[in-house]
Order: sequence, then C-alpha cells, then structure tokens
Amino acid sequence: MHRIVLKGRGDFAEWREAARGLLARGVAPGEVEWLSEAGANDLFAGGFAETGLPDSGGGSTGQALFEPAPAVPASAGTVPAAFPRLAETVLCHSDPGRFALLYRLLVRLQADRRLLEVASDADVVLAARLAKAVRRDSHKMTAFVRFKEVPLPPETVGRRRFLAWFEPDHFIVARMAPFFRRRFADMDWVIVTPKGSASWDGERLAVSDLPAEKPDLEDATDDLWRTYYASIFNPARLKIGMMQKEMPKKYWKNLPEAALIPELIASAERRVIDMAARAPTEAPAFHARLRAMEAARSEEGGGPPPSGAQTLAGIRAEAAGCARCPIHCGATQTVFGEGPERAAVMFVGEQPGDEEDLAGRPFVGPAGKVLSGAMADAGLDRIGIYMTNAVKHFKYEPRGKRRIHQRPTRGEVEICRWWLTREIDLVQPKLVVALGATALFALTGDTAKLSDQRGRPLPMAGGRTLFVTVHPAYLLRIPDPARQAAERDAFAEDMRAIRQLVAESGAGQCLA
Ligand code: URA
Repeated sequence: MHRIVLKGRGDFAEWREAARGLLARGVAPGEVEWLSEAGANDLFAGGFAETGLPDSGGGSTGQALFEPAPAVPASAGTVPAAFPRLAETVLCHSDPGRFALLYRLLVRLQADRRLLEVASDADVVLAARLAKAVRRDSHKMTAFVRFKEVPLPPETVGRRRFLAWFEPDHFIVARMAPFFRRRFADMDWVIVTPKGSASWDGERLAVSDLPAEKPDLEDATDDLWRTYYASIFNPARLKIGMMQKEMPKKYWKNLPEAALIPELIASAERRVIDMAARAPTEAPAFHARLRAMEAARSEEGGGPPPSGAQTLAGIRAEAAGCARCPIHCGATQTVFGEGPERAAVMFVGEQPGDEEDLAGRPFVGPAGKVLSGAMADAGLDRIGIYMTNAVKHFKYEPRGKRRIHQRPTRGEVEICRWWLTREIDLVQPKLVVALGATALFALTGDTAKLSDQRGRPLPMAGGRTLFVTVHPAYLLRIPDPARQAAERDAFAEDMRAIRQLVAESGAGQCLA
C-alpha cells in the first residue's frame, strides 16, 4: 500500500505531482491511501504562503510526506484539458475521498480519453457533484462575506484595514482570494475561516490553509446595515423557499441582517394585509396637501375656496389646489404656466412630464430642452414668452420605478381648459402657439389633423393669431435618425416663422 500525505488541504499542484509519480510507476488506484494534513488534525505547520497562481489557482504548495514524490518521467500520462480544470475544483471539496477519486479518474483516462463525457459513469457523476458543490460554496462566499473595519496603528496613513469571518463548507479560500483582491483592491483585508485564510495588503495576496478561530466582529455599521435591510424587505414579495435557497440558514449566524429575518418573515403576512387594507384609503400626497389647505382655510374662518382671482398670481394659487379631474391624484403638484404677466406670445404644450411634475415648472425636461434650443436658435427669447400647458397635472402610468406618460383624454383637457382660458384672458397674448394636437384641441376644440393647420398664422378667438406646430416630444420619439433630422428642420422652420410673426407684431420683448 502506498501512503501519500499531502500538506495542508492538498492542493492541485501537490496532488498532481504525487499522482503523476504513482501513474508513472503503474500504481493501481486501490493500492494508494491518500491523506491530507487538513484531514489529519495533528500535522499543522507553516503560515501564509504567497500565491503565484492565476485566478483559479490554489494556495500552498507542498511535497507528499512519508513517501517522497518521484520525479515525473517523460512517459507520464496525458489527459484531456477538461481534467485539470475539474481536478482543481474537486480538490477544493472537503470530502476526504477526493484525492482517490481523482487518481481513479486519472488512471481510467489513460485507457479512455473520452471518459469525462460519459455522464452516467459513477466516478464522473461523483466528480461533477463535488465540483458543483465547490462552485456553489464559492458563489456564496462572494455574496456573504461581510467585512468589518479594524483599527490600524496610528502611524499608518492612507489605507484602511478590514476583517471578515466566513464559514465555507469547502477549501475555497485560495480559489476565491483573487476575486476579493480584484473586488477590494484599494483596501487591506483579511478573510479568516475555519478552512484557511487570505490577506491582501495592496501588494501581496497571501493564503493559508490553517484553520482560524472566529474573531469578535460586531461593529457600529451592523446597525446601519440592519436598518437598510429591514427597509428594503418587501413582505409582499416574500418567497421563503427561494430566500433559503439563495441565503441558506447556515450562513445566517455571520450576517448582521439575519437576526431580523425570522421576525420579518413572521410579520410578513400581517404587513401585506395591512398594506392591502391601507392601499385604497391612504391618501396620496397631493390629496393630503389639499386637505391641509382646506384645514388651514377653516381655521381662518372657513368659507368656500377662493375663486375668480383677477391676477396670474391669484389663479396660480387657486390652481395649486385643483382637484377638478382625477389626474391630480397621482401628481406631485400643479404645474402652472410661467412667464410675464402680459406677454405678447404664449406657447401651449400638452401637460407637464415627469421632470416638470417634480420641478413644478413647465418645459424643463427633455422635450422642454428641445423646445428651448429651437426657440433660441430662431432668435426667440423664452424669458419674454408665457409658457403653459393644456393640462396642469402630470398624467402617467406607474411601471416599476418609472412613470410612463399617458396622453390626457379629451374630457380631461376640457375640464382643464378652465385654467387655460383664464391664463389667456389675463396674459392677453397676441400670438398663441399650439404645440401638438392636445394643445390645438384645448385652444380651439379642433380635432382635425395637425398637419392641415401647421406652419401658418390662423385666426383665433379674441382677435389673436394662432400658430400650430408639432410637440417637441414628438421629435424625440422618431427612431429613424434621417427622419428625425428632417422633422427637427421643419420644427426649426416653424420657430423661424413664429419669430417673423413676433417681429411683425412689434413684440420686441419676445425676441432674443
Ligand atoms: N411636455 C409638455 O407638453 N409640457 C411640458 O411642460 C413638458 C413636456
């Protein structure tokens, strides 16, 4: 019987050297007893060893004890390229039978080079199972290592040092050390585990097979991490089976957030019921603000909401509490028009978009930027022009974290016309520019094709002039670059025509 004792856990280089020697001498698998120091409890020696191996490489290298490994003869067997890769992974497994299994495969591969392709072969199946377990353990290590900062000596400047404790099932520390070096290259760290340790000081990656003891690692950031975890935990999305698969219980004891999990799971059902019960009755923010305004009014003596204001500031204040149609429910705020009290020109868009809703100002988002650019290029001064919209609240459909623009219905436009009419009455523009079909409908009730009206001065009620063009958001939605360029040219042409009309009307304050 040949007895081979490998140093530490027995890494690939060491096993390969011993296995090649045995193979060269024709030793049958059944005649070899394989042992490793890590499995033998009493043979610890050595400390950190610098690793020169590439990313998937192992750590310490060693010689077979008791029986010195023989020199590798030129006739040593060859193997398919897949075997060393498989062997490197399988050797990280903690199963003491791994060395013998691999030697058996090595010997059998000499007679059958395609053995690894035989998916039903018992040795192949077992090796694949061990490799899979190692890969899974490695993946879990990337997810569940939690570094804690440890103090450095006061004279050390510039770097910070971190320590992590992890309990892998297998000897994966050396295999995973390069991953952590890449991920955390700019800090000093040590990962200690009962199956070896790794350290990085900015220059040197070192690994050891020595088992370590658990350090005391609780720190102040644990509380922060727990608060964060509790806040992102969504009880409605809880899938306990999936959660335990992804975050097996055995890792919980070293994860600060894990202490919260049982309570979060236990309370999930109640929280989902609470959420569902609250959903239909919980007032959206805008409603809440309206209610607060009403409450403030009743404290001041009550009475109906103010109406009939005769200044722009007055109707803007009234519109801030507008709940005339349901669109206001999802909006952040009313986006009223802005510009001079008496402007010779008024631009009317469709409705505020996502950015306008948040900013409370019209035309500040992507479409607004296209419009402002075209106006400036044509020599129109946006500051001197009154900018507003047919509808004063943002209508959208929530999709995940995004709010997708929804065109207002004719009914909604008609309800909101109340504000637009009052803006026109107060601002008294000579020229009104309708940007797109919704604005055209709001201003005239006309549902005809926009292209029939576009690009020329039209008479409008009150002796004003109407000019119709497309909405700037339309330009942004055209996928074909050539068509988009042509449409932008046409829009620029419309802006120049507007400038010409403004110049002819003598409204110099609207010109750049
Ligand atoms: N689109 C509009 O019609 N108005 C805005 O204010 C912004 C985008």
